[in-house]
Amino acid sequence: MQFNLVCPCHFGLEAVLKREIADLGLEITRVEDGRVFFRGDESAIARANMFLRTTERVLMVVGEFTATTYDELFENTKALDWPELMPQDANFYITKASSVKSKLFSPSDIQRIMGKAVVESMKRKYRLDYFPKSGAEYPIRTTINRDLVTVTIDTSGESLHKRGYRKMVAKAPISETLAAAIIMLTPWKRDRLLVDPFCGSGTFPIEAALMGANIAPGIARSFAGEKLAFIPKATWQQARTEAKDLVIADAGMTLQGYDIDADVLTAARANAKLAGVDKYIHFQQRDMRDLSSQKQYGFIITNPPYGERLEEKEALPALYKAMGEAFGRLQNWSYFFITSYEDAQKYFGRKADKNRKIYNGMIKTYLYEYYGPKPPRQQG
Ligand SMILES: C[S@@+](CC[C@H](N)C(=O)[O-])C[C@H]1O[C@@H](n2cnc3c(N)ncnc32)[C@H](O)[C@@H]1O
Repeated sequence: MQFNLVCPCHFGLEAVLKREIADLGLEITRVEDGRVFFRGDESAIARANMFLRTTERVLMVVGEFTATTYDELFENTKALDWPELMPQDANFYITKASSVKSKLFSPSDIQRIMGKAVVESMKRKYRLDYFPKSGAEYPIRTTINRDLVTVTIDTSGESLHKRGYRKMVAKAPISETLAAAIIMLTPWKRDRLLVDPFCGSGTFPIEAALMGANIAPGIARSFAGEKLAFIPKATWQQARTEAKDLVIADAGMTLQGYDIDADVLTAARANAKLAGVDKYIHFQQRDMRDLSSQKQYGFIITNPPYGERLEEKEALPALYKAMGEAFGRLQNWSYFFITSYEDAQKYFGRKADKNRKIYNGMIKTYLYEYYGPKPPRQQG
């Protein structure tokens, strides 16, 4: 069976997610701010959950319609073929709806009306007055954008940024999906040295190691969709087997993570071990000011402090100035840093070759990109 599917992403990273979906061999049907629509069968749902690194969830579109009144919302939701998708004992529930620039905007009213409409639709086939909801979960997610209602069933469950490896968190960790997307925006490949001088809980080096060793982000977790009646269990098993077969046992990478705080490095090491990539990453306590390397053509991908606390904010000009000096000492390196600090470039002391606006939730951040030369081709 063919399904319409949609994956959300950070605003500004639609192109990265689109490329990831296309690389899975799936047909893109529409790209909007913060989400990419595509088509595929049951295996597409399982593979998207297993392999996509830059989305939070894979949603199966049950229907789309325009609604400007609650009556329209009720009738159109009821008209969707819920009994085709959900068995009699399905534990269906409507999660909090999000609404942007639309007439209907009260999440609790949307939830309530849609809940009633789904029950009415289910009654058509199952002829019950009361649904026990004792079976598998069917989380129904709705977005309303300029009065266009998109109704979906969530096939991921726990958000996909939860790969299962980050049990210990540092102060201001970057999300795994955002870190993966940033790495994909750079030309980094596993044959190039990668350093994160502000590594915190290790998200950048760990995500890079997963990519370099071809380890699927979902390999160690389960998905809500594994319990859905319309996707055979074997389909999930196939995706998991495919993921295991693709892992490169010895990817031969050099990744380094540094941080001034010894405690966060304990977390970083534990996380890398859980992710199965500790052999690729060297973590060490070091002040960024002492960064040095004999090597050329390395990469820095990092998110420096951006002033979450007041005393940190006051230290930012000196910190970014020191960063400019330290990075500048490295020969022929490329560096990429994401920060919401407005004066980052000014104090860093060099204008970025490119900068990109990315929304991290509601926070506007910039990815500053500085490109070094490519290494000369090996003669041989
Ligand atoms: C925004 S956090 C990075 C979070 C990290 N990307 C993660 O996912 O956990 C910034 C990090 O910079 C570290 N830091 C602050 N000043 C530093 C310095 N001078 N040298 C090295 N690390 C520093 C902090 O300890 C903190 O872990």
